[in-house]
Amino acid sequence: MRLRLFVIIMAKTICLAQSKGGTSKTSSVLNISACLIQQGYKVLAIDIDMQANLTSGLGVDPTQLERSMYALMTDQATTAADILVHTQEEIDLLPANLDLSIVELAVKEIMGREKILARKIRPLLPHYDFVLIDTPPSFALTTLNALTAADYLLSPVQPEPFCLTGMRNLVHTYDLVRENSNPNLEILGIFITMYDSRLSAHREIAEIIRRDWGDRAFEAVIRRRSNLMDSTAEGRSIIKSRPSSDLAQDYQLLTKEILSRVQKQ
Ligand SMILES: Nc1ncnc2c1ncn2[C@@H]1O[C@H](COP(=O)(O)OP(=O)(O)O)[C@@H](O)[C@H]1O
Ligand SMILES: [Mg+2]
Repeated sequence: MRLRLFVIIMAKTICLAQSKGGTSKTSSVLNISACLIQQGYKVLAIDIDMQANLTSGLGVDPTQLERSMYALMTDQATTAADILVHTQEEIDLLPANLDLSIVELAVKEIMGREKILARKIRPLLPHYDFVLIDTPPSFALTTLNALTAADYLLSPVQPEPFCLTGMRNLVHTYDLVRENSNPNLEILGIFITMYDSRLSAHREIAEIIRRDWGDRAFEAVIRRRSNLMDSTAEGRSIIKSRPSSDLAQDYQLLTKEILSRVQKQ
């Protein structure tokens, strides 16, 4: 535990959320975490998506887990330390598996069920600099738990026609969470992913996003590059497997901006 001037330093918790699937949430949690590790920060990644792509992306087999996010969310006696896994990327992980599909039913009767994750991860916060949470592409109870546990909301947006509706849904959910379960939640920003500058539709939508979101849209843009897919399938971040690739550079720039925004606040 790190003490500075007798003040316990708590991790900053960043939740990646977006109502649309396939917008790079999981890839971004993995690669931003890897960039932060490379800069010497201690990082905890949390998978609260029953698809468990982050868990498998970090080389952990979801089908072999004895205890996972489901136990953490539903069993009072299970602590975050009980389910914590150290992964090959030096990123610590609270892993998920398909059991999460019935979590909503299992905690139906519990008062304050949107605050379970926040309560459970609190003892771990002094041990990390950053916590990154990967969420499913919906605003289900799991995502509400993630947003309630977070200091910041970070949203990847793919420059496709329906993304603007997705952003409106996100803002609505953000308002609801602030009103009901986490008044401290801040929007860290949105960033464009899978960008292809050759497509005029991408260029136009990127412009609309920047116009509508101003400062809250990150300068850094994650380009579409198919080699990211190979890397995630290998269970490694692009930062480690292809450090000089365009994508690794994009994620480095994004991480730099994230750090400057978090440190300013
Ligand atoms: N910048 C990118 N370029 C090309 N493919 C990408 C990029 N980012 C993610 N992908 C691929 O797109 C798919 C969806 O990404 P993923 O991170 O799983 O999204 P989400 O978690 O939002 O559903 C995956 O197959 C992933 O490898
Ligand atoms: Mg995902």
